[in-house]
Amino acid sequence: MKSKRTMLAAATIAVALTTGMTVALTPAAGAGTTLKAAAAEKGRYFGAAVAVNKLSTSAYTTILNREFNSVVPENEMKWSSTEPQQGVFTYSSGDRLVSHAQANGMSVRGHTLLWHAQQPGWAQGMSGSALRNAAMNHVTQVATHFRGKIHSWDVVNEAFADGGSGGRRDSNLQRTGNDWIEAAFRAARAADPGAKLCYNDYNTDGINAKSTGIYNMVRDFRSRGVPIDCVGFQSHLGTSLAGDYQANLQRFADLGVDVQITELDVMTGGNQANIYAAVTRACLAVSRCTGITTWGVRDCDSWRGSDNALLFDCNGNKKSAYNAVLDALNGGSTPPTTPPPGSGVDTSAWYVLLNRNSGKALDVYAAATNDGARISQWTRNNGNNQQWQFVDSGGGYYRVKSRNSSKVLDVSNFSTADGGAIVQWSDLNGTNQQFRLANSSDGYVRLINRNSNKVVEVQGASTADGGNIVQYADWGGTNQQWQLVRIG
Ligand code: XIL
Repeated sequence: MKSKRTMLAAATIAVALTTGMTVALTPAAGAGTTLKAAAAEKGRYFGAAVAVNKLSTSAYTTILNREFNSVVPENEMKWSSTEPQQGVFTYSSGDRLVSHAQANGMSVRGHTLLWHAQQPGWAQGMSGSALRNAAMNHVTQVATHFRGKIHSWDVVNEAFADGGSGGRRDSNLQRTGNDWIEAAFRAARAADPGAKLCYNDYNTDGINAKSTGIYNMVRDFRSRGVPIDCVGFQSHLGTSLAGDYQANLQRFADLGVDVQITELDVMTGGNQANIYAAVTRACLAVSRCTGITTWGVRDCDSWRGSDNALLFDCNGNKKSAYNAVLDALNGGSTPPTTPPPGSGVDTSAWYVLLNRNSGKALDVYAAATNDGARISQWTRNNGNNQQWQFVDSGGGYYRVKSRNSSKVLDVSNFSTADGGAIVQWSDLNGTNQQFRLANSSDGYVRLINRNSNKVVEVQGASTADGGNIVQYADWGGTNQQWQLVRIG
């Protein structure tokens, strides 16, 4: 069944391309269905910051292991964690994360050897050569312990000042002398020659005084042979993104270092999905941007509290931001747009409808063109049988018309029962063919039938290709929520 179907889909795409009927078709072949698979196809990793104690929560590790192939400890490799008393090193949590990563084919970012924050109390009270020596010993000991197991180390974190100075941040480490950063990089290289050594900072999301100060330091390091391989852009973002985000990454890459998006999270709001997609596209557009890490997994894991800044909600459901990132990784160029129901959809546009629970697309099964053909969900391939147009019926109701068959979604035989089949049928503008959109959270909508008042759902919350589409009472399930991705 599947191979026959694939042939039909391929034929549809080929016809569409040769007749110029469609735009922006993304071939199904090569499209990743998880973040890590889609990123890997583009030669990048996709990572998450991990709170190591959550590794025993299966709801957490299920998502982590399915979607991510790089991890970074959120706190467990910081100075206060690894050397709580001077000369006494505790590596158990870091080791646990490394083991988890190795067992699951993930690489590890090390974070962070030196930082002004989260220092142990004993170091906070030190200064001068005593502090410098203690700091370099810390770098050497920790990098030696994890030698050979770390893909990239944030050797130094957040050493530049915010604002317009472009200079260093004042700190006890900075007061040991301006050369503390290069000394740290040299010590780290000596301890673990195989790890890429990064400088990492925030508020560096465009070309500004702070990022330029860092840029000048990296250029200087490269010219003098100080061992630096990469720059991390934390990318803790609000509701907008600097227009020169990509250009800023590129100017660092042009210095001969890799760049990485190291702590990505984005404040919730209308623009969250678009900002996530724009960051992803920027990384893909810069050949030396080697990977993206989000600072946590689910919204409730985030250090940003109520910002709901991550790709999964607190129940582990994929948000529209997730679909936006996945789409961008797979080469989609159009930002997702979910029209606010109050203002109506764009009736000239073609949409792919992605189910919130399964991530799969609403699909006329096997690209059938007959009345009564069943509607299913299928892995998104943007085929004409996955493209839908909203035809205005007035009163806020629409028919949902297939691009392939020109038939519309139809509650079979005007059923009002839970589980009533949804099929395609010739457009008669019947009330069983009319749906209105209702808002769910995070840009998802429900489709409510005019005749039955029931919503379009994936039956039994199936996540399989071919899962059946039916109507059911509106109970707020994620299998009843759809994202409208405009593709034409
Ligand atoms: C944060 C952690 O997420 C919190 O759990 C902790 O309480 C404070 O530090 N920049 C960094 C990260 O480099 O280490 C910070 O992580 C977030 C800002």
